[in-house]
Amino acid sequence: MPSATAPIAVFDSGVGGLTVVSALRRALPSENIVYLGDTARVPYGGKTRVTIERYSEEIVRMLVDDGAKMVVVACNTASALALGRLRQVFPVPIEGVIAPGVEAALAATRTGHVVVMGTKATIGSRAYDEALRAARPDIRVTGIACPLLVPLIEEGMLEDEVTDAVLRRYLAGLRASDADTLVLGCTHYPLLAPAIARAAGPGITLVDSAANCARVVGGHLEDSGLRNGGPSGGLHVCFTDPPDRFLGVAGGVLGLETGSVEVKKVPPLGQ
Ligand code: DGL
Repeated sequence: MPSATAPIAVFDSGVGGLTVVSALRRALPSENIVYLGDTARVPYGGKTRVTIERYSEEIVRMLVDDGAKMVVVACNTASALALGRLRQVFPVPIEGVIAPGVEAALAATRTGHVVVMGTKATIGSRAYDEALRAARPDIRVTGIACPLLVPLIEEGMLEDEVTDAVLRRYLAGLRASDADTLVLGCTHYPLLAPAIARAAGPGITLVDSAANCARVVGGHLEDSGLRNGGPSGGLHVCFTDPPDRFLGVAGGVLGLETGSVEVKKVPPLGQ
């Protein structure tokens, strides 16, 4: 049984999961957090379920072996395709980002028409559609796969006319529809929120899962007696490939002090 001072481990394919870390730091400032961004293998969004499950299982194995008391899958793609498998394999609590995002969307929509932006794998999995309809059967869901956005974000092109043009293309149908809620169904996308809001136009509420996810994680820790009561917790950031300049940009946007970064190798399964 891990102790309350053990870290919460958070992982994503790249820098996107730092949006969830930022919400966790605000909601649970006493918790120690370890972040792992799988930058050597980003993006996950165009890969198959088998590959995404394997990458996720390798990472969670390493994080659990390193002593994490809980794991947060801060990646919609891995949450959509690998969360079930991870929960079968590992005994620690594992929280994803789809259910908290669904809750935020249901609270926001008035027209009952929700648009979800995500990677090809997330949209293709229909994980949002299924979770939204399970909670509210009359809801209408439009999924938009946006495969160009993660590379643009990882390149740091957050305020850029090329990014604006790509967003206008992806969201072309939105203004003429009765959708009122746009789910940022990829943890990278909150970094693009101002550009997405411009392209979506007025009357559209942007929602993401970060704040709700942090609340759910806090609830889990409270219920299992694992909430850290100590002084302010630390953040240790690891990547599977050395980070580039964009880590500083993302940290600045999110108000995160990322400190010195460790480069870690993820052992393949079976070793
Ligand atoms: N940030 C991830 C997500 O939430 C994945 C991006 C990717 O690796 O394609 O979906």
